[in-house]
Amino acid sequence: MDTSYESRNLRVEVGSRVVLDGVSFEIGRGEFVAIMGRSGVGKTTLLRVLAGLIEPSSASDVRFQGDPVAGPPEGVSLVFQDYSNSLLPWRTVAKNVELPLEGRLVKAERRTRVAEALEMVGLADRADDRPFELSGGMQQRVQLARALASRPAVLLMDEPFGALDALTKADLEDQLLDVFAATGTTVVFVTHDIEEAVYLSDRVLVLDGAPARVEAEITVESPRPRTQIRTRESPGFLAARHRVLEVIFGTS
Ligand SMILES: Nc1ncnc2c1ncn2[C@@H]1O[C@H](COP(=O)(O)OP(=O)(O)OP(=O)(O)O)[C@@H](O)[C@H]1O
Ligand SMILES: [Mg+2]
Repeated sequence: MDTSYESRNLRVEVGSRVVLDGVSFEIGRGEFVAIMGRSGVGKTTLLRVLAGLIEPSSASDVRFQGDPVAGPPEGVSLVFQDYSNSLLPWRTVAKNVELPLEGRLVKAERRTRVAEALEMVGLADRADDRPFELSGGMQQRVQLARALASRPAVLLMDEPFGALDALTKADLEDQLLDVFAATGTTVVFVTHDIEEAVYLSDRVLVLDGAPARVEAEITVESPRPRTQIRTRESPGFLAARHRVLEVIFGTS
C-alpha cells in the first residue's frame, strides 16, 4: 500500500499521564480514515501527533510518506472544531482563506487558489463578507477552504462538524465527500459520531482504553459516491455501524 502515515507503537505522555500506548496503524494515500472513541480517549492527541504538534515518546515510530514526523509535515492541513475562534473577524472570507498562503506564493497564484478553494466549498459569492456575516456552517466551510487552499496531500480534521445542527452537518459531510472525490486528498477525520464516521470513511479506527490503543479497525464496504439516504440504508453501512457499536458497547 502506498502509505500516507504509518504509526508503530506510538506512545504519548501528557504530563504524568500516558494517553496513548502501542498505537499502530497505516493510512493509505487517498484513503478516508475516521478516528472514533469516547471523549477524553486521546483522539485529538493522536491527530496532533500526526500534525507534528506533539512529540511522542522516543520508542514511537510515526512516519509521514516514509519519513519520521518531526514538526509539522509539508502538505498537511488541519481543520478544527472551533470555527468561530479560528477565523480572523477583521479579515474578509477571501483574506482568511488566503492567510496560510501569504509569504509562500505570489499574489496572482494566491488569488487563484483562494477562488478555487471557495468554489469547492460553495462560497464563491461570499468572498467579500466578514466571518460574522456567515452562518456557523458557512464559517466551517471557510475553514475547510482555508485548509484546501494550500492543496494539501492530507487533511486532518478534528470533529469539524461537531458544533453544527444535523441538517447542516449532513450538507457539510456531502461537500467534504465531493472535495475528497475531486482532489484525492487523504483525510483523517476525528469524530465521536458513529454514523458520521461510517458514512464518510473507508475505514474506522476505534480507540479505547486508558492508555488508549487501536481497539478495532473496521472497513466500510459501502460504494462511493455515497448519499445520505441510500448509503445509510445500505448493507455495508449497517454492517460497519453494527461492528463499531459492538466494539464500543460490547456484544451483550
Ligand atoms: N494539555 C493537556 N494537559 C494535560 N492533559 C491533557 C492535555 N491535553 C490532553 N490531555 C489529556 O489527554 C487525554 C486525551 O485528551 P484528548 O483531547 O486527546 O481526548 P479526545 O479523545 O480528543 O476527547 P474529546 O472527544 O472530548 O475531544 C485526556 O485525559 C486529557 O485530559
Ligand atoms: Mg478531542
